Amino acid sequence: MAKLLAAVLAVVLAALAAGTATGMLSAEIDDGMPLIHMLRPLLHSSGHLGRLGGVPCDSWRFAVETDTLRDWETVPARCEKYVGNYMLGGQYRSDSQAVVDEAVAYAEGLKLSGDGKEVWVFDVDETTLSNLPYYAEHGFGSEPYNSTAFGAYTKLANAPALPETQRLYKRLQELGIKPVILTGRREDKRESTAKNLADVGYTGYEKLLLKPQDARVTAVEFKSGERKKLVDAGYVIVGNIGDQWTDLLGEPEGDRTFKLPDPMYYVG
Ligand SMILES: *[C@@H]1O[C@H](CO)[C@@H](O)[C@H](O)[C@H]1NC(C)=O
Ligand SMILES: [Mg+2]
Repeated sequence: MAKLLAAVLAVVLAALAAGTATGMLSAEIDDGMPLIHMLRPLLHSSGHLGRLGGVPCDSWRFAVETDTLRDWETVPARCEKYVGNYMLGGQYRSDSQAVVDEAVAYAEGLKLSGDGKEVWVFDVDETTLSNLPYYAEHGFGSEPYNSTAFGAYTKLANAPALPETQRLYKRLQELGIKPVILTGRREDKRESTAKNLADVGYTGYEKLLLKPQDARVTAVEFKSGERKKLVDAGYVIVGNIGDQWTDLLGEPEGDRTFKLPDPMYYVG
């Protein structure tokens, strides 16, 4: 009797489980997309997080981070909460950590010349410094860029360090690789930028290079031009890290480039 009951129970449970799985599957396949892999509903691998019309926000972010989507001006309104959650909810820090872990491992494996000529180029905004306190007040990039408001914020010189970048910075210095800071911020921000960097612990860098006040050049032209000057002066750029593709593109890029996440804005 007990055996029979157990067998009946097992059948009922199996049917329930199958029913649940089928129900979840059909709920997830909502737009007729052909499957290219078995869905695993219980692992949450098939949801469309952040979709409120248009392409889902995680797909939008993927296109942004791969430099596929260009010249976008604001985070889509439907993705403001998604980006806010990404930036503050741990994923941003975890993604930054993965980048820096790889950069540290690469740097530790380098055979240095010992002549002190190896440098590593660091960007400022969303690389050494985090402007999250500002962007959290401005829709995480869903509001149009306001140079007056952002300029006033940078003048305050109290942006926190991105801790992951700081870990890389300190490790490179221990290894004997000198940081060079190269930013699209203009010369009128030199004092506040230098103060902010020093206050949060970025000291001992080889150079702080800012954009000339009235230069009319793109980010790639400016930054690759400055890297060229470094190489011409005898430096060896062993690494280059930034949150924008325009920090990393254009010869000489540096021996290896490292892209930090930034779904809040695009610098062309
Ligand atoms: C930009 O920011 C300034 C300073 O906070 C503010 O006065 C101005 O209204 C803002 N402009 C727009 C278009 O929001
Ligand atoms: Mg930047």
